[in-house]
Amino acid sequence: MSQVLGKLDDYPRASLVSGPTPIEPAPRLSGELGLEVLIKRDDLTGLAFGGNKNRQLEFYFGAAREAGADTVLITGAVQSNYARTAAAAAARHGLAMHIQLEERVPHVDDTYRLSGNVLLDDLLGAVRHSYPDGEDEAGADAAIRQIADDLRARGKRPYVIPLGPDNPPLGALGYVVAAREIVAQLDAADTKVDAVVAASGSGFTHAGLLVGLRALGSQVPLYGICVRRDAARQRPRIADKCRALAPMLGIVDPVTDADILLDDDCLAPGYGRINDATMAAMLLTARSEGLFLDPPYTGKTMAGLIHLARAGDLAAGSRVLFIHTGGTPALFAYAPELRERMSTA
Ligand SMILES: Cc1ncc(COP(=O)(O)O)c(C=O)c1O
Repeated sequence: MSQVLGKLDDYPRASLVSGPTPIEPAPRLSGELGLEVLIKRDDLTGLAFGGNKNRQLEFYFGAAREAGADTVLITGAVQSNYARTAAAAAARHGLAMHIQLEERVPHVDDTYRLSGNVLLDDLLGAVRHSYPDGEDEAGADAAIRQIADDLRARGKRPYVIPLGPDNPPLGALGYVVAAREIVAQLDAADTKVDAVVAASGSGFTHAGLLVGLRALGSQVPLYGICVRRDAARQRPRIADKCRALAPMLGIVDPVTDADILLDDDCLAPGYGRINDATMAAMLLTARSEGLFLDPPYTGKTMAGLIHLARAGDLAAGSRVLFIHTGGTPALFAYAPELRERMSTA
């Protein structure tokens, strides 16, 4: 199986994931939705409350170690799961960590600013910086590079985790690894799935899974649920990442435009903001399976899955693999809004 994924195993990787993560049935949720839902538990990747970012960070921390870095820097939303897991990875590797938190979500309160992931960032000893405009990716990248330059001038050896769209999607290799894991698990269980559903934010998860699945010969439809920007803006990002991944792996690009499936029905009113469908999906999943989803990512993604089922894209009775990408610490940052919505649900 490895050869078809080319140079995947040649990249330096720091071990951060306790895997393989299980694929579990969700019988009561399935009954509610008229589907057979299986859940890939990437909320259980291990380090620091888990999540998809640990898979991506294995490659960045591998690169940071190879570069001889003593300090790692990352930029993300205030309630960034990436920043929290990166801070934990840095702690585990004895590296200093600087995180820049961008104001991406309007009208937030102190709970959002200080609880959830931010509390964990502080417990992990990360140095926090803030950036005022969450939609200005180039500006945020320039600001984090400036912090790195200042550290370098003080004799440090910084490594910036480069997440902007102009950088090679190194983190997406973590989801090529996950695709290999999923194909092996489904083969071993002699199970086929009719569709896979995952969040599509930076697109590392979506693009990595898509390239991995197609390279391994799986033609299963993969739906990316838009959590950050609408489908029209997300499509070229996913296409670019898939195109960039093939040469990074040293393989022929296995993805066609028709493979990129996106649904943005549950995105409004925007990144990190709860809507009725997301709240309903979170409550349904908690109360049918005892499983927590988060408002910005997995709650929206489950809402997207439900929308696809209602729209007929996922046929009644079909077997669907939902990728649970973690993010549960952010639940606590949304406590006031969740309480208010529960009181009227
Ligand atoms: C919990 C969680 N799920 C999904 C995503 C989206 O994944 P990606 O950025 O790889 O598209 C993120 C991104 O921050 C996340 O934190």
